[in-house]
Amino acid sequence: MSTIKYMVCMMMLVGCSNPKNMIAERTTYNEPHRLQMHFSPKSKWMNDPNGMVYSNGVYHLFYQHYPDSNIWGPMHWGHATSKDLVHWEHQPIALYPDTLGYIFSGSAVLDVKNTSGFGKDGSVPLVAIFTHHNAKEEKTGTSTYQNQSIAYSLDEGKTWTKYANNPVLKNPGIKDFRDPKVFWYAPENKWVMSVALALEKKIQFYQSKNLKEWSLLSSFGPVGDTSGIWECPDLFQVPVAGSSGQKKWVLMHSPAPYMQYFVGEFDGTNFKSENPASVIYRPDYGPDFYAAIMFNGLPPSMLPVGIGWVNNWTYANEIPTKPWRGAMSLSRTMQVKKIGEEWILYQLPMQRYNELQYDGKSWKNISVNEKWSVPGTETAAYASEIIIDPNQRKDITIDIAGGALLLTYDDSASVFILKRGGNNAFQNAEFDKRSEYSAKIRRTNNPLRIKLYFDHSIAEAYVNDGEVVMTAQIFPQKENLPMVIKSTKGATIPSIKCWKMHSIWKNKN
Ligand code: FRU
Repeated sequence: MSTIKYMVCMMMLVGCSNPKNMIAERTTYNEPHRLQMHFSPKSKWMNDPNGMVYSNGVYHLFYQHYPDSNIWGPMHWGHATSKDLVHWEHQPIALYPDTLGYIFSGSAVLDVKNTSGFGKDGSVPLVAIFTHHNAKEEKTGTSTYQNQSIAYSLDEGKTWTKYANNPVLKNPGIKDFRDPKVFWYAPENKWVMSVALALEKKIQFYQSKNLKEWSLLSSFGPVGDTSGIWECPDLFQVPVAGSSGQKKWVLMHSPAPYMQYFVGEFDGTNFKSENPASVIYRPDYGPDFYAAIMFNGLPPSMLPVGIGWVNNWTYANEIPTKPWRGAMSLSRTMQVKKIGEEWILYQLPMQRYNELQYDGKSWKNISVNEKWSVPGTETAAYASEIIIDPNQRKDITIDIAGGALLLTYDDSASVFILKRGGNNAFQNAEFDKRSEYSAKIRRTNNPLRIKLYFDHSIAEAYVNDGEVVMTAQIFPQKENLPMVIKSTKGATIPSIKCWKMHSIWKNKN
């Protein structure tokens, strides 16, 4: 049987994707709202980033994907690769649903010591750890339809073999039990998995010596934001900025439809948060940042890097983009800093995004009388750095894409505010419902420093070197509207810089 026929038969057997989708739909990457700096699939549905891992000079991004539709459905793992975490190349689908279920979110590791035994003749296996979601069983009313399984690749993620004895971590009778994130815990020579108990609002930690047998270590939560179900946990170490080698542990996860993080210590068994339990800390205070996880296996010289899904489940299936739906955030580096008694996560886009900049312009001490359109920003993909004087910050609004997004500051509460304006082509009750998002700025006497990336239908604002980050989707009625700085009483802006941004899609077809 020819390989193609075999694949077609296999797909029919497991009742998954229509083979016509093996040939990806053509895209110009110039459709309305199409992202030029952010990763989005060529076509069809995408949600969470999965299995992000670095191997042999290549960064792998897998993602929740339904290749038959641009609404959520039976989940596959889509695949893309990058040499620099900025430009991406599409790869064939990595994992298809099978008799054990859909392929839900999870992670991937490079099993350097071949603990799994999947490596042959000295080859290093790439092992994916994911949730098998059995939709048929779910309908029967059982609670054990989510189990953790593994698959391995011996050819750098091109082809995958599912482990014959899946699942490796059976559901212990917990209704929603998913999104395994695994990392190597060197002090005890073992793998550690974080997994979400979505309905109980808990995260459990498991350990394994071989990725095949797992035992329970401990449990964390419910604490902090417990209003939505808990999904997509990740436990990782980050450097303390400015220290000589000090590190802290961060536990980050997605209480739907937003995210939160805790900073503290992990001793190989338990994670303990050191931040006040009464405060909710978010990696992103905007409406559209979800299910973010970190890359495994990065070279030690690099800062930890994470990517999130720029969307929100309350309207994700309806956003007005075609032929794709769903995009990833910029690749962000992470560190922590202690401010007073609190550990704060600091994030910045990878420095390499600067390589996309062109036509740079800069101004110092610009007077704004009512409003000033920033020259050079009459484009749908730009970056800007704005410094605002602490004495004038309460009367300044940054208006993006004709009022589709407004950024302001409230002095009395020391909060940075993101507001989706009325100028959106996309009218949806859930999208419009909560238009205002705010985040506390802790270093209040300093100038407000904003690094902004606007990319057709996504804006990411990094405030005060990443102390606060806000990401939002907007769907402006018109493209190429300039950024406008507004001040009702008139103000002087100490410094503004802006750049146009090249597209990351060199070969758009
Ligand atoms: C988060 C999530 C995960 C799940 C996946 C399914 O967005 O709900 O918990 O594994 O999406 O696509």
